[in-house]
Amino acid sequence: MNLFDVYPLYDVTPVSARGIEVVDDQGQTYLDFYGGHAVISIGHSHPHYVNRIKTQLDKIGFYSNSIKNPIQEELADKLGKLSGCLDYQLFLCNSGAEANENALKMASFHTRKSKVIAFDNSFHGRTSAAVAATDNPAINAPINKQQIVTFLPLNDFDAFEKAIQSEDNCAVILEAIQGVGGLDEPSTEFYQFVAEKCKENGVVLIADEVQSGFGRSGKFFAFQHHGIQPDIISIAKGMGNGFPVGGILIHNSIEASYGLLGTTFGGNHLACVATLAVLEVLENESLITNAHELGEYFKEKAKHISQVKKIKGRGLMLGLEFDFEVAELRKNLIYKQHLFTGGSKNKKLLRILPALNITKEHIDVLFEALTKELT
Ligand SMILES: Cc1ncc(COP(=O)(O)O)c(C=O)c1O
Repeated sequence: MNLFDVYPLYDVTPVSARGIEVVDDQGQTYLDFYGGHAVISIGHSHPHYVNRIKTQLDKIGFYSNSIKNPIQEELADKLGKLSGCLDYQLFLCNSGAEANENALKMASFHTRKSKVIAFDNSFHGRTSAAVAATDNPAINAPINKQQIVTFLPLNDFDAFEKAIQSEDNCAVILEAIQGVGGLDEPSTEFYQFVAEKCKENGVVLIADEVQSGFGRSGKFFAFQHHGIQPDIISIAKGMGNGFPVGGILIHNSIEASYGLLGTTFGGNHLACVATLAVLEVLENESLITNAHELGEYFKEKAKHISQVKKIKGRGLMLGLEFDFEVAELRKNLIYKQHLFTGGSKNKKLLRILPALNITKEHIDVLFEALTKELT
C-alpha cells in the first residue's frame, strides 16, 4: 500500500533526537529550529519526559473516560497554577484542530448561535468548524463551507465593531500571534477592544493558543501579553512535546453538563503524564523565562543581518522577513548547514520555533549559518 501523498517532503530521515539535535539515518546531526512545527517544547527525548511516560506505560497506558482518572485532575491543577488560569475547567482531546472544534462547539452550545468571526490569515486546523474559520479556501472542502464565518482584517476596529453586532455570532476566534499565517499580532488595544465587545454582545472569545501557548511566547499564554481574559483557550502542540494531546480551558462561567463534549482517547493516562512532564520541566528549568530571554537575544542578533527586513514574533515564536521568498534559503539551511527552519503562508518569512531550552550558543550557530547562506 502507498502512503496518501499529501506532504512535500525534505529528503531527511531522522532516527533519533535529543534536546535540539536530530540525527538522520546517515549519522548526520541537525539543529532543530522548527520543533516539528512548534511541537517540541522541552527538547527531544527529555529524560524526565521519557521516564514519566515509560513509568506510566508500565502501570496503565489507557482506559476510556468512563472511569476515574486522577492524573487528569493532577494535570488540571498543575496547569491552572502554572498558567495562572485558575478560573477555568479543563477538557482534554487529542490535537489542535480538535481543541478548536470543541471550543467552537461549546461557544455554539452556550450561546445557541452559530456564526463565527475569525481573522485574515488565520489558521485553526483542518476539521469541520476549525477549517471553516481558517483563512485558506484551498483547504476548505464544499462540506466545510456550510459554516458561516466572517473574516476580518486584524486591528480593524470599525470592521470588528460592525461585525460583532450581528445577531447570530457565537464566537470570535483569535491567535494572539498568528503561526501559519506569518506571525502578525493583534495590538493590545485591539485585543482588549475585541474582549470588551465580545462581553457586551454575549459572544464567546476563543484564544487559539495551540501554537503560542505553553510558554512559547515568553509568557504561559500569548494573550497574557495583552491583559485580557478569554472565555475559552485552546491548547495542543507544545503541551505534549510530541505526544498527541490537546485541550480547552473553559471559563467557570460556562457550565458543563453530561454529553456536551466527549472523546475516546482524550485525557488518557499517557497523554496526561506527557503533559505533566512538560509542565514540570517548564517550571523546574525556568523555560518560559528562557524563551523570553533567548527571544530578545535572537532579535538583537537579527538586527545585524542587513537582508532582514522585519523581525516578528515574541519569545521563541519568531520570524525573519526578507524581500525574497525563503524556500531556497530553507533548502540550503537544511542540506548545507544542517539546520531545520520553518516557512509560512507569507513566503518571504523564515520561521524559527525551537525548543524552549535552547542556548545562546545554538542561536549563534543559526546566525553564522544564515550569514554564510546570505553572502
Ligand atoms: C494556531 C493553530 N491552531 C490550530 C492548529 C491545528 O493543530 P493540529 O495540527 O494539531 O490539528 C495549528 C496547527 O498548526 C495552529 O498553528
